[in-house]
Amino acid sequence: MALLKSNKVIHCLGNISPALGALSSRNSSWWAGVQMGPPDPILGVTEAFKRDTNPKKMNLGVGAYRDDQGKPFVLSCVRKAEALIAAKQLDKEYLPIGGLGEFTKACAQLALGPDSEVLKSGRSITVQTISGTGSLRIGGNYLARFHTGPHDVYLPKPSWGNHTPIFRDAGMQLKAYRYYDPSTCGFDFKGALDDITKIPEKSVIVLHACAHNPTGVDPRPEQWKEIADIVKKRNLLVFFDMAYQGFASGDIDRDAWAVRHFIETGHNIVLSQSFAKNMGLYGERVGGFTVVCSDAEEAKRVESQLKILIRPIYSNPPMNGARIASTILSTPELRSIWLEEVHGMANRIIKMREQLVAGLKQQGSSHNWQHVIDQIGMFCFTGLKPEQVERLTKEFSVYMTKDGRISMAGVTSGNVGYLSEAIHAVTK
Ligand code: LMR
Repeated sequence: MALLKSNKVIHCLGNISPALGALSSRNSSWWAGVQMGPPDPILGVTEAFKRDTNPKKMNLGVGAYRDDQGKPFVLSCVRKAEALIAAKQLDKEYLPIGGLGEFTKACAQLALGPDSEVLKSGRSITVQTISGTGSLRIGGNYLARFHTGPHDVYLPKPSWGNHTPIFRDAGMQLKAYRYYDPSTCGFDFKGALDDITKIPEKSVIVLHACAHNPTGVDPRPEQWKEIADIVKKRNLLVFFDMAYQGFASGDIDRDAWAVRHFIETGHNIVLSQSFAKNMGLYGERVGGFTVVCSDAEEAKRVESQLKILIRPIYSNPPMNGARIASTILSTPELRSIWLEEVHGMANRIIKMREQLVAGLKQQGSSHNWQHVIDQIGMFCFTGLKPEQVERLTKEFSVYMTKDGRISMAGVTSGNVGYLSEAIHAVTK
């Protein structure tokens, strides 16, 4: 019967002109009301960069590490881990909903430290996630479903561009606290404390664990201590985002200091981790989401609910990246190569910061560029105004986000001179 009906329709259409047929099928589109959306503020920069034919073009938009030749960098510990995994001829069965056990264990240990009381007592749960974004989103969904305090998430001003849509789409409301002081290009410690003191009790506060994105400005340890005290007094739920462990100082333990301090001072935090930057596993999408609970029994209940959340979204996570990361973390020889490579990446970026400032001075720039050196991690929040950013892109094919952030990881010995020239030209 259904077949008969559709035959009739074809026959019918055969009687009208092809143009009319096309029109009527266009008019009946389900998506006629869908508006064109804007490009992504960060990944859209890469799309524009790819279309540019200027041989001198530079992509300083997305935070993705490049070697000094400007090429994507695959860490040698990753290549070695891949060879070890390939030799094992492992199967491709589904991973458990919460991910690869060896990975989640190593992931939590990397953040919390090998001697963590939380890990020893089993009062936390870590699930494998689709990198940092997926982790934040699972976290956002979890908060939307189970957080008993206000569903307000306080972000530093500014914060990573994707934080807002992640938490908003998860059903949380976005609020902000002062963080960056444009007059010093540094941390607005007083502003942050003043604002945090006023956050309603039991709200959620997002803290960047290290190498703050986009500003490259982190609190110092003594400032972290005061923040931890105030957050405790306000009884806020802390959501740490740690996407750059190792990239701030070159030392993974030093970069985890704030996370560990909060836990040691009694904060039962939630934590997102990403292995995109520190292992260069961008496209493998490897990350973790951890909830620190009051005891092991609570952790079991939370785990059960995280699984219930994950299952209808992507069922279970992909295995390849998790195998690579866990092989690196649990094979002493690969782990020490990795630590050296993280150090090497962080150092190359520090060198580029110094060369950029030297280049600007050489060009005759009279501005104070000290913040380019003082800021840490992958990004530099230059202080360039939107119209200067626009000129850099239009006249020099230097691509960056509109807020004036540049990814220092895209700067090399070969192009730092050109970048200095371009920045000087738009700021003199
Ligand atoms: C960035 O901020 O450039 C990175 O975190 C990449 C991304 O997904 O935005």
